Amino acid sequence: MRVDRAGLPRGEVPGAFDVGAAAYDRLVGANPGYHANLRRSADRMRIPGRGKGLRLLDAGCGTGASTAALLAVAPEAEIVAVDAAGGMLEAARAKPWPPSVRFVHSRIEDLAERGGDVQGPFDGILAAYLLRNLADPDGQLRAFRALLRPGGSLAVHEYSVRDSRAATRIWHAVCWGIIIPSGWWRTRDTTLYRHLWRSVLAFDGAARLRRRMLDAGLTDVHSETMPGWERDIVHTFLGYAPTEEAKQ
Ligand SMILES: C[S@@+](CC[C@H](N)C(=O)[O-])C[C@H]1O[C@@H](n2cnc3c(N)ncnc32)[C@H](O)[C@@H]1O
Repeated sequence: MRVDRAGLPRGEVPGAFDVGAAAYDRLVGANPGYHANLRRSADRMRIPGRGKGLRLLDAGCGTGASTAALLAVAPEAEIVAVDAAGGMLEAARAKPWPPSVRFVHSRIEDLAERGGDVQGPFDGILAAYLLRNLADPDGQLRAFRALLRPGGSLAVHEYSVRDSRAATRIWHAVCWGIIIPSGWWRTRDTTLYRHLWRSVLAFDGAARLRRRMLDAGLTDVHSETMPGWERDIVHTFLGYAPTEEAKQ
């Protein structure tokens, strides 16, 4: 499949994840910080009271790694986990989950039209490694804001290297030294991993993404990066749906 400078055409991304689904957990498991950093982003949402009485959305849940991070910080919340790739969802559903976790096969862009209680409102949304893969990130940020209850939090857990030359150099080295060869070794297809490399290089710097979140109507927007080798490479971008008082 053709991967151009910005990565795959965004409509083809869920299909590429289907091809990579069987190998996904082993590949991300080889990154020592992967699960801990998802958990860090979920923690940064500061979900109160173990999530009791709250509804959370895991947007682009994949094989459930980000769902597990949400469940760890909010074991009493109801969690709706959505993904467009059937193969990734199949791997997620094969894991043990409490009845409070539900998986939904849908493009995130179509969620609001599905009706029923999957359309919100939510008290918190985690979108881990999703936004960069969407054709219209601004439209989706506005849709996330509309899905949130006033005061609810959005955590965008995402790669962003553009603001740091050192991070960009490390990203090239990690992709060509580890991620692309490991992906080839496991799946005999490098499409998804070259998409990852290119799409991260083409994606927003941290300042630009914070600006997009403000423009989408989120408040108190800020970001924090990760420790270790992912410093200035992976970040949690946080924003909140305005409360009624803030709107007046
Ligand atoms: C890199 S994986 C991340 C999975 C999980 N959040 C994690 O942290 O491990 C990105 C996921 O986003 C999904 N995805 C991409 N575009 C999507 C869309 N438009 N709607 C819903 N899911 C999408 C892919 O199918 C894939 O499972």
